[in-house]
Amino acid sequence: MSILNGKTTLLMIGAGNMGEAMLKSWVQTQISKFSLLVLEPQPSDWLKSMFEMGLVELNNIKTENKIDICVFAVKPQTLGKALEENRKRLRKETLIVSVVAGKDFNFLKSSLHTDQPIIRVMPNTPVSVSQGISAIVANKSTDQTHIGWVQALFDALGKIVLLKNENQIDAVTAISGSGPAYVFNFIENLIEIAEELGLSAEVSKKLVIQTVVGAGILSGSTTFSPGRLRENVTSPAGTTQAALEVLMDEKFGWKPIIKKAVHAAHNRSKELAGTKN
Ligand SMILES: NC(=O)c1ccc[n+]([C@@H]2O[C@H](COP(=O)([O-])OP(=O)(O)OC[C@H]3O[C@@H](n4cnc5c(N)ncnc54)[C@H](OP(=O)(O)O)[C@@H]3O)[C@@H](O)[C@H]2O)c1
Repeated sequence: MSILNGKTTLLMIGAGNMGEAMLKSWVQTQISKFSLLVLEPQPSDWLKSMFEMGLVELNNIKTENKIDICVFAVKPQTLGKALEENRKRLRKETLIVSVVAGKDFNFLKSSLHTDQPIIRVMPNTPVSVSQGISAIVANKSTDQTHIGWVQALFDALGKIVLLKNENQIDAVTAISGSGPAYVFNFIENLIEIAEELGLSAEVSKKLVIQTVVGAGILSGSTTFSPGRLRENVTSPAGTTQAALEVLMDEKFGWKPIIKKAVHAAHNRSKELAGTKN
């Protein structure tokens, strides 16, 4: 039976880490609104099982398929080739959604119709557990229907923010796109140190992960600022204060380190945007 039955048709090009994370949510939450077609040279077992269950069409796009939305989720270096391969399938009305880091509207437009509606999205990996944050920026050829589609799709993956300027995407990449890796590295280090203090690997992992999850949820669910929450944990001359005096040292604490790291990511994002293919 065809999965196409008059719903909005979405073609996903590339279902690796990010593409599959998006699909995992969309087959659960968006299937009543969108028909999902996927092009992926090395489909995972999960994707093959979705095809066998009739929830997605896989590597079989027919010329009569009218693509309403085409999501590019390939690596930046393969985007040029993927655009070229699929150019004929894309009508001038097809909304192009790109999650590809560092490839701007001009790059995308150079392979597409003039006035093609394009929306760039910068998600992050917690979309795989519907706790992502996706920043969205649309070009001038988009309308409210296009924005509505993308809001519905990415709302299902966590939270969204709308950007006014495309150049803000580099800042988003450096903050929330790469951000989960900064937090994972913090987790790795704190677990290692917990073990050095004599706790078992299992207990260390549990303590650290739940501390990060709990602090994240608390800071997102209260009107108190992060600074106020920090002060609430810090009693004068206590243990937290002893640690914060090290961490918040203007010269040797983590502010200058975090700043240096985020600037490195920001510069790299801008550099990638300047590269061809
Ligand atoms: N991971 C993140 O945190 C994150 C966050 C925001 C944005 N992104 C963006 O998401 C994009 C994808 O990243 P990823 O980590 O998911 O990469 P990935 O795991 O390598 O997935 C890309 C997939 O696309 C496939 N592919 C390549 N060329 C294709 C083509 N012409 N047609 C159809 N499929 C094709 C690849 O197959 P082969 O392996 O066979 O080439 C691969 O399975 C990147 O551009 C990245 O900037 C990622």
